[in-house]
Amino acid sequence: MIVLGIETSCDETSAAVVSGGRKVLSSIVSSQFELHECHGGVVPELAARRHVTAIVPVVEQALREAAVDHDVIDAIAVTQGPGLAGALVVGMNAAKGMAYALGRPLVAVNHLEAHIYANWLCDSPELPEEPVFPILCLLVSGGHTELILMTGHGRFRHLGRTLDDAAGEAFDKGARLLGLGFPGGPAIEDAARKGKPHAFELPRAWLTGTHDFSFSGLKTALLRLTEPMRLPEGATESGATSATSPSGPFRTHQTPVYAASSPIADLAAAFQDAIVEPLAIKTARAALEFGARTVVLAGGVAANSLLRERLRHEVMDLCGPQVSVAYPALAYCTDNAAMVAGAAAWIVRRGDLVGWEADVHPRLSLMRS
Ligand code: KG4
Ligand code: ZN
Repeated sequence: MIVLGIETSCDETSAAVVSGGRKVLSSIVSSQFELHECHGGVVPELAARRHVTAIVPVVEQALREAAVDHDVIDAIAVTQGPGLAGALVVGMNAAKGMAYALGRPLVAVNHLEAHIYANWLCDSPELPEEPVFPILCLLVSGGHTELILMTGHGRFRHLGRTLDDAAGEAFDKGARLLGLGFPGGPAIEDAARKGKPHAFELPRAWLTGTHDFSFSGLKTALLRLTEPMRLPEGATESGATSATSPSGPFRTHQTPVYAASSPIADLAAAFQDAIVEPLAIKTARAALEFGARTVVLAGGVAANSLLRERLRHEVMDLCGPQVSVAYPALAYCTDNAAMVAGAAAWIVRRGDLVGWEADVHPRLSLMRS
C-alpha cells in the first residue's frame, strides 16, 4: 500500500510518500523556523498562514521525489490532532481535496501515534527488523511526555506522563533562559557538548512510585541560578547573544544577555542531564516492570543523543541484552509527514478509515485514537 501523508500540526509543512508502512519513498519538510524565531516560540496565526502557501508546493515535491503518479497512491493520510487548530485545518482540507479528487480513502492519523510509528520507517533498501511487542514507548516532544505500553498495533496503554512541562518544552524554556535560541533542544545539546554536567547541581523530580515526570521545578531552579549572572537589559557583551529584532503585530521576546565568561556550556550540560536522567531511568524501570521486549523513543526529543545513549545504557543495565532499544532516524524524530503516511498503513490494516465529515481535533489523545 502506497500512502501520501500530510502533516501540518505545528510549524512544519510536510508531505511524504511511504510504501507498506515502512519504506519512505520521499519526505519533504518545509520548516517555518525563521518565521517564529524572533518570537521565541511558535505563533499559531503565523503558522497557519504559512501552511496555506506552502502546502501545495510541498505535496507536489513529495510526489515528484517519490517518482510516483497520482494513480498509484492508495490512500491519503493526514494529521487530525493534537496540534494547533488553524494549522491542522490546512492539512485536513488539502488531504480531503486530494482524496476526493483521486477517489481514494482518507485516513485521519493521531500525531502521537504517528511519532511512535516513526520507529517502523526506513529509507534504505534493506528494511531493519520491526520492533517486537510488547513495546515500551517514551514519547517526548514539545507538547507531550508520555510513557506508553504498546501491546499490539493500535493498542496503547497509558502508564505515565508529565505533570507540568513536556520534556521538549523544558528544553525550549531552558534555552530561552540561557539565551541560546529556538528551538531549544538542539541549541542546548550543542552548547552542552563543551560543558561539564556536574559543574552545577540541578534538581530531578523522581515522583517515586509513579511513571510520571515533572520538569517545572528544574526550570525554576535554572532561572534562580542564572538571574544573578545576567547583564542589565540593553547591555551587550562580545560573545553574548543580543536581543532579536521585532517583526509584525506579534510579541517578540527579549533574549537574556550574559557576560562572555558566564558558564553557559556547563549550565546547558547540567540542565540537559537533569532532563535526560529521570526519563532514561524511569523508562528502563517500566520496561522491566511490564516485560517489554523493545523500548522505543519517539518525538522531537528522541533526536537528543544523550537521551539515546543514556536510555540504551539504563535498559542494558536493568533488563539485559534481550531487550532492544530503538529510535527513529533523526529526520523522523521531529515533525514530518513520513511518520503520518507510515502510521496510516497500520491504521488501514485495522480498518480505521474516516469519512468526509472527519474534522481536526486539536486536543486528541492517544488513548481515544
Ligand atoms: O515532535 P516535535 O517536532 O514537535 C511536537 O510534536 O512538539 O518536537 C519538538 C521538540 C522541541 O521542543 C525541540 O526543542 C525538541 O523537540 N528537540 C530536541 C532536540 N531536537 C528537537 N530536544 C532535545 N534535543 C534535541 N536534539
Ligand atoms: Zn510532533
